[in-house]
Amino acid sequence: MMRLTGRRVIVTGGGSGIGAAIAVRLASEGARVAVADLSLEAAQRTVEGLSGAGLALRVNVARAEEVQAMVAQAVQAWGGLDALVNNAGIGVAATTPDTSEDDWDRVMAVNLKGTFLCMKYAIPAMRRTLQEQSLRGEESGGAAIVNISSAVAVAGVPNRAAYSASKGGILALTRAAAIDHVAEGIRINAILPGTVDTPWIASITAGQPDPAAARAAMTARQPHGRLVSAQEIAAMAAYLISDEGASVIGAGMVVDGGFSAR
Ligand SMILES: NC(=O)c1ccc[n+]([C@@H]2O[C@H](COP(=O)([O-])OP(=O)(O)OC[C@H]3O[C@@H](n4cnc5c(N)ncnc54)[C@H](O)[C@@H]3O)[C@@H](O)[C@H]2O)c1
Repeated sequence: MMRLTGRRVIVTGGGSGIGAAIAVRLASEGARVAVADLSLEAAQRTVEGLSGAGLALRVNVARAEEVQAMVAQAVQAWGGLDALVNNAGIGVAATTPDTSEDDWDRVMAVNLKGTFLCMKYAIPAMRRTLQEQSLRGEESGGAAIVNISSAVAVAGVPNRAAYSASKGGILALTRAAAIDHVAEGIRINAILPGTVDTPWIASITAGQPDPAAARAAMTARQPHGRLVSAQEIAAMAAYLISDEGASVIGAGMVVDGGFSAR
């Protein structure tokens, strides 16, 4: 399938896990992918594995000036911006009383404010791209934004208070922004993954007294009996960006093995 030929996309947090799998999938369908990450080395590793054009960028999505520079560099490289995947995220495992204010602020800054800032600066760039395409009389499927929320936005999970709040905020922001920008040809959606097999999960389980048992417990809470793969999330992202997703607007696409259906 080559549904994304020539599309210019930014993937944040593309140096690892779900973001890296999304970058690989989008490139395999013909997109040009700017992989942006806190770690430039990690972003470069992902770009080296892409089948098409790639660009590695360093960004902290919680900082407005760095997000502005990320968008400007991608636009400068390829002359426009057609899609953005807001995937960069961090987690904290704690209940509400056990969450420090510092941890609350850190999680909100990266997950929710980061998603806000990337949309804030990407949407005007997408608007300019669409206007230029229209002036040239070019056919365009419009622009697309995919925000990586989580199944915890709609299902309560123990010890994830701040993280769940940030992911619920992303889902609400997705819906609000989808309505604001649908008329100008910018489609905005979210993906709600269940537990996905990424280095993140490995780092959580490694910190437990019995890592194998911790992984087994995470697997057991998935009704389909296994972790979701990063490639399954990437397939949904590619669909949402492609013209096949043209009528999907402001949606929270659940890819969780049945986790939130219980
Ligand atoms: N793994 C899961 O089970 C799961 C489930 C639901 C949702 N998610 C979400 O998917 C996204 C990716 O998760 P993952 O499992 O691939 O994690 P990961 O830790 O493997 O990758 C996250 C990437 O984001 C980057 N990053 C972190 N903070 C950043 C910042 N401030 N600016 C730019 N980049 C930053 C990291 O360097 C890393 O490369 C996150 O938003 C996470 O909340 C993950």
